[in-house]
Order: sequence, then C-alpha cells, then structure tokens
Amino acid sequence: MRIDILTLFPDLLSGPFSHSILKRAVTSGIVEIHIHNIRDYATNKHKQVDDYAFGGGAGMVMMIEPIDILIEKLKSERNYDEVIFLTPDGEKFEQRLANSFSVKQNLILLCGHYKGVDQRVRERLITREISIGDYVLTGGELAAAVITDSVVRLIPGVMSDETSALSDSFQDNLLAPPVYTRPAEYKGWKVPKILLSGNDKFISEWKHEQSIERTKLRRPELLD
Ligand code: ADE
Repeated sequence: MRIDILTLFPDLLSGPFSHSILKRAVTSGIVEIHIHNIRDYATNKHKQVDDYAFGGGAGMVMMIEPIDILIEKLKSERNYDEVIFLTPDGEKFEQRLANSFSVKQNLILLCGHYKGVDQRVRERLITREISIGDYVLTGGELAAAVITDSVVRLIPGVMSDETSALSDSFQDNLLAPPVYTRPAEYKGWKVPKILLSGNDKFISEWKHEQSIERTKLRRPELLD
C-alpha cells in the first residue's frame, strides 16, 4: 500500500510514522508513506498557496492550482483508489472505513487549512471527504495521521498475532475487554481470579461477557 499525504505543514507529519508499529511497517516495506509539501507546487514567485475568498469573508482559502498540479503529477504515476479530503464536514471516520481502506493499493490524503480549500478542488479533484469527529482541528494533518495509523495497522503483516487487529474494540461492534498484567496483586488490588485459572474456554467466555457489559455501559448504541 502507498499513502500520499498532501499538506502545507509537512513537519507536522514527521513524527507519527517514525515510531513503533508504523515505523516498522514503513521500514519493512509493507507500506510507503509519502509526505508532499503543497507549497513546492505553487506557481507564482511568492510561492503563494492561499488567497482571499471571492465575495469576502474572514480567512484565507487554499488555491486550486498547486493542489491540482500535485494531484495530476501523482495520478500520472499510478492509479489511486481514493483522493480523500480531510474536513470537519466530511463523512464520519469509523472502523468500518478503516477496514475498507486497508485493502486499497494507493490513497491520497489532502489536508485542508485556513478557512478551507477552493470548492472546485472538492468538486473536481476529490473522491471522498472525511471527518475524524465533530470537532474542528487547525488543519487536516492530525486527521490524516489518525486515518493512516488506523488503516496501516490493519494491513496483514504489520502487527504480530498477539496484537491482532481482530480483537480490537469495534471490530465486532463490541468494545475490547479489560486487560491486566503482573503483579497479580498490587496494594491489595487483585486481578480477576478467572484470568489466572489457566482455563482458556472460561477465560474467553469471561472476556466476551466483559466486552458485552462494557459496551452496554459505555456505548449501548453499538448493540442496536
Ligand atoms: N480538519 C479540521 N478538523 C477536522 C476534522 N475533525 N476531521 C478531519 N479534518 C479536519
């Protein structure tokens, strides 16, 4: 899989992919993550990437030309499954979408900034608009990092068996059960006995019950 992230602030994205599981996925060649600075594709001598909104209104608007040039260049090199724009008014991102992106070959993620992006970008160049939740970030970069992280960890070979994505919260519309590690007792606070019993069948039944209880309590709408 290859993910191309288009941004005005590439430095914001240098951290998330250079640690832990994501880093390993990149260094092992399972995924390629390319960060592109939209400003490198600005055509005027001031390297301008945003301008005032036609008709007035506060805030600058990202211009179409540098974004179009960059997307055209990428598309001339390979086919993309989706060109995704990160925006708070997009479709809500959920595990179901992460699952469906994880089997794609090539994705473009376009990060918005300022007051937004020229509407013609959204109408002509984008295949999908996604929000990571009902709150407004200063830009799409953190959203792009969230999506990339949640998608890449699902690609076969990225995670080891014991951390398999199949046991994640949401994978079967259930929240994950509680987990414990040593010591079995700390300050008198005990780990549930059943987890120390060695009986795999009972343990897995217990975990399933805990998942259901936790889901009922915290996210009952997932059970509907
Ligand atoms: N850009 C700003 N806020 C965002 C959000 N909630 N999701 C995706 N992109 C965004």
